[in-house]
Amino acid sequence: MKPFLCWRDDWLLGLNELDTQHLALAGRLNQIHSVMVAAGEKSEFNSDAYRRLLDFAEMAREHFRDEESVMRDRDYPGLGEHHREHALLLAELQDLIRHIEEGKRDFKLQTLTALKYWLIDHALNSDKEFADFCRRHTVSVAGVASASRHASSQIHHPIR
Ligand SMILES: [Fe+2]
Ligand SMILES: [Fe+2]
Repeated sequence: MKPFLCWRDDWLLGLNELDTQHLALAGRLNQIHSVMVAAGEKSEFNSDAYRRLLDFAEMAREHFRDEESVMRDRDYPGLGEHHREHALLLAELQDLIRHIEEGKRDFKLQTLTALKYWLIDHALNSDKEFADFCRRHTVSVAGVASASRHASSQIHHPIR
């Protein structure tokens, strides 16, 4: 079966630590997807998927912190804006988790799909802008020729 989220080579930033973390986040979404698919259409609360969602949120928090640290090290002028975007994404994720906990919302495939696009959009736009900045400033970016595609406009999809 094709993975739910297959991280493409041309999505790599050329920044090893961050690419590894993006792949790990994608892997965690794939695990959640497998758990959901295995559970089928059962209506009861999927605690296994939910627990993995909590892990995903923690991984995302750590990734954002590490990414911002790399940006700081490289004097990235877009750090402030990027940090605000991370904070907004984490707040949305926390809202989602709280709503699931309070029973106001189910954790379904549709929500997981929104998370998938949330991750892809952020990596392909905002993170890519940082990778392009590194490349322009010839900071030692491991040569990933395929990752030279420029970031397009900022797209933000709230998790709905
Ligand atoms: Fe990132
Ligand atoms: Fe980021």
